[in-house]
Amino acid sequence: MTDAQKLTDEVLRASAATPDPRLRELLAALIRHLHSFAAETGLTHQEWLAGLEFLTAVGRKCDDQRQEFVLLSDVLGLSAQVDHVNAAPGATEPTVLGPFYRPGAPHRPPGAHIGRPEDGATALIRGRVARTGGQPIAGATLDVWQCSANGLYDTQDPDQPPFNLRGVFTTGADGGYQFRTVRPVSYPIPVDGPVGALLRASGRHHWRASHVHAIVAAAGYEPVTTHIFDAANEYLRSDAVFGVRDSLIREFRPVGPGDPDDVSFMVDADFVLAGS
Ligand code: BEZ
Ligand code: FE
Repeated sequence: MTDAQKLTDEVLRASAATPDPRLRELLAALIRHLHSFAAETGLTHQEWLAGLEFLTAVGRKCDDQRQEFVLLSDVLGLSAQVDHVNAAPGATEPTVLGPFYRPGAPHRPPGAHIGRPEDGATALIRGRVARTGGQPIAGATLDVWQCSANGLYDTQDPDQPPFNLRGVFTTGADGGYQFRTVRPVSYPIPVDGPVGALLRASGRHHWRASHVHAIVAAAGYEPVTTHIFDAANEYLRSDAVFGVRDSLIREFRPVGPGDPDDVSFMVDADFVLAGS
């Protein structure tokens, strides 16, 4: 056994008496992976310190409005990995919440428009919420939000009224819902902090594939935090936060005969919830 392995074992033994069993398990795995990271890469003192300084800068960038650690987790694919690990079989796939969710959006009647004409081309999104067995769920809520045509959420843009492009819709007796919004655009994730520097150092872009966010929930079911992605978007295969799932991609179909005449696109998006 090498000195490095002996050290890893010694540190594992030191935390082996952690009373909480889950914390014990998490700490042990973290220690093993951190130690093997240093061994595998031959981590130098300079690199170790640079890493700690980077994490310090990430912490300094955080405040009430900004969570740079979540952004770091997002661009490293950790948030998406946690979503994979926790996805309920048969239910709509989850994806990142992102930093722009705002609780307390107004409840709106079926079909209402959550935005304004200047936010983009109008799309009618409709579908059903059902349980994994297929039965419709009446009274499920869809808390939806997205950015405007300028790529900004209301919380980033003083020219948008509060709760613009946000709303909560409730399914009817057949599990059906519908709402009007705008066709979403791609937008950049915040890159004015250390996470932006990391993306530039990695030669990566900072664009999100265009999407509408939704939290779908119903009493007695696991809520799902997810997106509706636009099938025509150029960043579907290179989303900056690895949030795209094929099952969440939907066509924004140009309207045809028989469609409502106040919208430009129709989108069908069903959701499935697993019992809790
Ligand atoms: C978003 O979709 O709102 C988002 C997600 C992760 C990072 C930045 C933005
Ligand atoms: Fe978003």
